[in-house]
Amino acid sequence: MSRRDYFLTLRNAHPIVLPSLLSADFGNLEREVASLESVGVRALHLDVMDGCFVPNITFGLPILSALRRLTKLPLDVHLMIQEPQRYIERFYEAGADCLTVHIEAVERPREVLQQIRDVGAASGIALNPATDIATLDGCLDLCDLVLVMSVPAGFGGQKFHEVAVDKLRHVSRQVGDAVFLEVDGGINTSTIHRCAVAGAQLFVAGSAVFGSPDYGEALRQLSRLAEVSE
Ligand code: DX5
Ligand code: ZN
Repeated sequence: MSRRDYFLTLRNAHPIVLPSLLSADFGNLEREVASLESVGVRALHLDVMDGCFVPNITFGLPILSALRRLTKLPLDVHLMIQEPQRYIERFYEAGADCLTVHIEAVERPREVLQQIRDVGAASGIALNPATDIATLDGCLDLCDLVLVMSVPAGFGGQKFHEVAVDKLRHVSRQVGDAVFLEVDGGINTSTIHRCAVAGAQLFVAGSAVFGSPDYGEALRQLSRLAEVSE
């Protein structure tokens, strides 16, 4: 099975809450990943920042490879970097199953999305709260995933932007089940349900998981609130 297909098997199980390791203890990643696996996490969200596209620097290829050796869970890699097209192949080789690039960081989104699919990963496009949803027109047919940011990309622990709910609803109407709809930023027990109602299927949560003394309980609560009857 290709890594793209592997990632897309998550479709059978949504809603899915993905912990963002940005808020994990980087000094104990092995223990953090083991704790997440032990409470039944289905995939991990990894935030790569370059200090250029966003005013923050996190981690890159070596950490991704190290995480790849620690787990078989699908790795959902959120690239907050300039010129992501230069690194797609290397991120794939390091172990990414899904690669998401920002629409604001690429001049020719169709080319990058095709490049991601060609290497064998699932392709995602992300957009910040201030970016018009219409910028995605013309590339949705090449997206396996659309990531609606509910905070400006760059930091964990920010406040949820309500504009994300309208965007989720809009994309959901536009694409139906053809793409996986993900939301990221400020997701917690007060915000997750309305994102689910608006059509989100994947929910990224950093501080809401790692800020809790009991990851399992935090994930169960969030998952319960993300259930919507069809
Ligand atoms: C922000 C990152 C998020 C971040 C979310 O740019 O993309 O994944 O870790 O953190 P919380 O859930 O704390 O808003
Ligand atoms: Zn993210």
